Amino acid sequence: MIQLDGISKSFDRARTFVVRGVSLEVRDGETLVLLGASGCGKTTTLKMVNRLIEPTAGVIRLDGRDTAEMDILTLRRGIGYVFQNIGLFPHMTVAENAEIVPRLLGWSRARRAGRARELLALVGLDPEEFGARYPRQLSGGQQQRVGIARALAADPKHLLMDEPFGALDAVTRDQLQAELLRIRASLGKTIIFVTHDLFEAVRLGDRIGVMNAGRLEQLGPPRELLQNPATEFVAELFGHARRQADLLVEANA
Ligand SMILES: Nc1ncnc2c1ncn2[C@@H]1O[C@H](COP(=O)(O)OP(=O)(O)O)[C@@H](O)[C@H]1O
Ligand SMILES: [Mg+2]
Repeated sequence: MIQLDGISKSFDRARTFVVRGVSLEVRDGETLVLLGASGCGKTTTLKMVNRLIEPTAGVIRLDGRDTAEMDILTLRRGIGYVFQNIGLFPHMTVAENAEIVPRLLGWSRARRAGRARELLALVGLDPEEFGARYPRQLSGGQQQRVGIARALAADPKHLLMDEPFGALDAVTRDQLQAELLRIRASLGKTIIFVTHDLFEAVRLGDRIGVMNAGRLEQLGPPRELLQNPATEFVAELFGHARRQADLLVEANA
């Protein structure tokens, strides 16, 4: 379980706040999607969970423990992180990228190699075919699969995913969303997934938290947001998507 309690962040000594009083709870095994436009504070919120960024105010708890008081390595060991824009190391092979965390943890070479094979297979990449390649020899979708494998390497209980499919074409994104649903069902992770894409949010989120200008506008299951928007902003977000869907229907009429 991940709990955010009154989390705020200012980068300029409290003159302006990019995250404002966000409180939420991610239940064990749940995928909570943070949905909002570019610049609304999604990445900043996510990075405060594994302390890549320290909150200005508020407390974050992981399974009840205040993260500010945890050893940072212990904390990060329990949290997988999938970066926005993929973020593989270009000078390392696919297998080496997947093994980064196990290497930091001091696993033996044999154990690491076995785990890398297992992980690549899990994310749908043949280890024999892809393990020795470099990231530049992969498509964007394949690179992002490696990014997911890397985040899962030490079998963390929690997973943070920052627009992992944002840079991919629609067909590849659709495939990877399906893969994530499959992996998630078999692994039972607690996930915070950040996106600006409403359709992705509805597909993947057990609950969606809509963010706007650093605030959490509404948090609930997709259906509740759709049928019972708490604010004008949330209503307009879904209204916009509905108009897009109507256009498709009209074009097909
Ligand atoms: N290290 C930083 N220093 C100053 N401002 C930052 C920093 N990181 C992010 N910001 C600002 O905080 C706001 C939220 O950024 P971010 O959390 O990356 O948004 P999102 O991920 O929703 O696009 C933006 O206005 C951004 O420019
Ligand atoms: Mg971001």
